[in-house]
Amino acid sequence: MENIYKPELMEVIQVTQHTADVKSVRIRFRDPAVLEKFEFRVGQFGMFSAFGAGESTFNICSSSTWKDFIEFCFRRTGKVTDVLWGLNEGDTIGFRGPYGNSYPVEQWEGKNLIFIGGGIAMPPIRCAIWYALENRAKFGNVTVVYGARTAADMVFANELDEWEKRERTRVIRCVDPGGETPEWKYEVGLIPHVIERSQIPADNTIALVVGPPIMIKFTLPVLDKMGIAKEDIYTSLENRMKCGVGKCGRCNCGPVYVCKEGPVFSLAQLSQMPNDY
Ligand SMILES: Cc1cc2nc3c(=O)[nH]c(=O)nc-3n(C[C@H](O)[C@H](O)[C@H](O)COP(=O)(O)OP(=O)(O)OC[C@H]3O[C@@H](n4cnc5c(N)ncnc54)[C@H](O)[C@@H]3O)c2cc1C
Ligand code: FES
Repeated sequence: MENIYKPELMEVIQVTQHTADVKSVRIRFRDPAVLEKFEFRVGQFGMFSAFGAGESTFNICSSSTWKDFIEFCFRRTGKVTDVLWGLNEGDTIGFRGPYGNSYPVEQWEGKNLIFIGGGIAMPPIRCAIWYALENRAKFGNVTVVYGARTAADMVFANELDEWEKRERTRVIRCVDPGGETPEWKYEVGLIPHVIERSQIPADNTIALVVGPPIMIKFTLPVLDKMGIAKEDIYTSLENRMKCGVGKCGRCNCGPVYVCKEGPVFSLAQLSQMPNDY
């Protein structure tokens, strides 16, 4: 019988340190046949294992159109991420996935998109941003609002420069008051305030908001004021998971298993669910 918990072996091909406690890692399937067949949808996640330490859940943050590797980005917070922090090129880790639902990107075609990410939450929406930019003709204006505590806390900062060179694409970077350096030439302020004063057109618009719960809480009323409906606002939940495949019951929000029916939910869906996220 097939063991659904058996991870695939992955070779670490690149490690990038972004901040004092955030790294991203590119990994490639060691088995060429698995590499050839592997596909995932925008917004899905995986279980990444450090042998001897355990598994952690991360979003796949690379584009679904990049075929040679997948990438995850993590903050060093505890047992497993401590071990992953020490990875070097050539090392082997385990991967199970892809799991979960995905952003309904086909339904978003023809619409303007606003991506809002706070801190380490940028990687979970990076995959969706790349999807929009690599399928540019299918979408209207793309606006990326990315906020971090300080300039030194921004991850994938080099890609922000690349994204804003794309047609009909605006990138708004902000740091919390006091987080700016003398060289900082962008916005200073909390994400909801920066959105309010940036005058982002919001007709025919989908918004994707990922970040700390407090940031989401204060951003939602601003999006509401801009006229974006609950059905058109999406987020990705990070309820603690164990199996990732709907077996252990660890990740539930009431009757909903976030690993199976999520992690992506619209605000309209969340408002029908118990507040367990
Ligand atoms: C669908 C999904 C996608 C995720 N994507 C990412 C990602 O792209 N990048 C990333 O850095 N993290 C992500 N996370 C969170 C990540 O899974 C945990 O931070 C990680 O597993 C911690 O592992 P650890 O063994 O190092 O920490 P542990 O030793 O298990 O815990 C360290 C501390 O972190 C807390 N913690 C652990 N897991 C969570 C969690 N899920 N939510 C809140 N607090 C937690 C613990 O309570 C403890 O205080 C995601 C989680 C989910 C469910
Ligand atoms: S993580 Fe086991 S049921 Fe969702």
